[in-house]
Amino acid sequence: MDLLQSLANEFAVSTDKMNEVAQNFKKAIENGLKGGKSPLLMMPSYIGKPSGEESGTFLAVDMGGTNVRVAKFSIKDRKITKIAEVSSGLRSNDGTWDYTTSKTTAEELFDFFAGKIAQIVGPGEKYLLGHTFSFPTKQTDINTATLLMWMKEISVTGAVGKNPNQLLLEALKRKKLDVKPCAIINDTVGTLLVAACQYADADIGTILGTGHNTCYAEPSHPVTGKPMIVNMESANFDWELPFTEYDNLLDAASNKPGGARLEKMVSGVYLGELVRIILSRLASQGSLLKDNSKLKSTYSEKNSLPSKEVSEFIRNRNYIELTFDCSPKEAEMIQNISAMVIKRGARLAAGTYIGTVLHIDPELRNQHMVAVDGSIYEKMTGFKEELRRGLDEALGNKADKIRAQLVKDGSGAGAAVAAAMVTEN
Ligand code: GLC
Repeated sequence: MDLLQSLANEFAVSTDKMNEVAQNFKKAIENGLKGGKSPLLMMPSYIGKPSGEESGTFLAVDMGGTNVRVAKFSIKDRKITKIAEVSSGLRSNDGTWDYTTSKTTAEELFDFFAGKIAQIVGPGEKYLLGHTFSFPTKQTDINTATLLMWMKEISVTGAVGKNPNQLLLEALKRKKLDVKPCAIINDTVGTLLVAACQYADADIGTILGTGHNTCYAEPSHPVTGKPMIVNMESANFDWELPFTEYDNLLDAASNKPGGARLEKMVSGVYLGELVRIILSRLASQGSLLKDNSKLKSTYSEKNSLPSKEVSEFIRNRNYIELTFDCSPKEAEMIQNISAMVIKRGARLAAGTYIGTVLHIDPELRNQHMVAVDGSIYEKMTGFKEELRRGLDEALGNKADKIRAQLVKDGSGAGAAVAAAMVTEN
């Protein structure tokens, strides 16, 4: 068998496999809800779907990875309007400062956020603030969460075990701002909240971006007996996933070996790295890139191949020839390898969405909208299409019951919706 064919076999996710992922995921949801053994954290969010009556002007902080955004939104009649926004990377381009490493303390990080908030709050103004904080937290109410661990290769000191909204409140006080955090949510939850303002059938929120995770509206939550959105932290799902030797290499070299195994197959922080590992391994075995000098000079470091480039590899074979100084045949091979990694990610995600819907509606009687945000879904060449194709194949004649739809800025606007929901009660 030729190399490409054997790689294609390793990376293939058949229709049966997608359905198996769906069943395993559903089982993981059900075990997790009962507090049983599950790779899904199944975190209660202490918030349900919006009523549509929410109104007012609120601040939002969106901290999800290597960027922070602060914004002001007005909400009325289910319409959410952005009035102001400031965003910033957490690292400078020239490497002079970096708020993501263990050299930064939690106080320094939250002071940085408060500094951004100060830019959109006028003198004497008073606001409530919703905070989208997209890392695993254990919540005990809508405004109290404990950071369990950093993800997405962030490692700021002194934040794990603390409530990010308390840290934010203290930083706001240091800046003498009259702004009170009143809600903390995950970005998946924000995406679902924003979608639910407009679409009655939205019951799943998911991020396919730097990271990956999914939440859904549990019709009757065991803790409260009421509807509640559950943040599954599904990055960690790992039951019977089709790991290859390349996934294992990536995992072993990551900040968190053994963790976030699904995320390592579908999300932006890892997809480029996975392609890099495959190419480097094949080149070192002599099966690809006979002249590997460009690969060595540009892509020898961990994380040196961004997912954005993978998107370009799939779109444009000439770009590959230029990037690697390789033959058209080798470029074709690299293009195919990139496409199969992306296709696999999309089909695994599809399996988890089907599993979630089957938990809510085992006979697929109703319509379900999966609200999706994130750069992988939005921009990765072929991802959306493969996801849809995966859903169609696995669902057969029920395929029209599940639709995935891009909902932009759920994490920003969703925080404002959450703040509005708190004040409504
Ligand atoms: C990571 C975080 C999760 C977040 C996801 C998408 O998996 O743990 O909380 O929702 O990334 O940003």
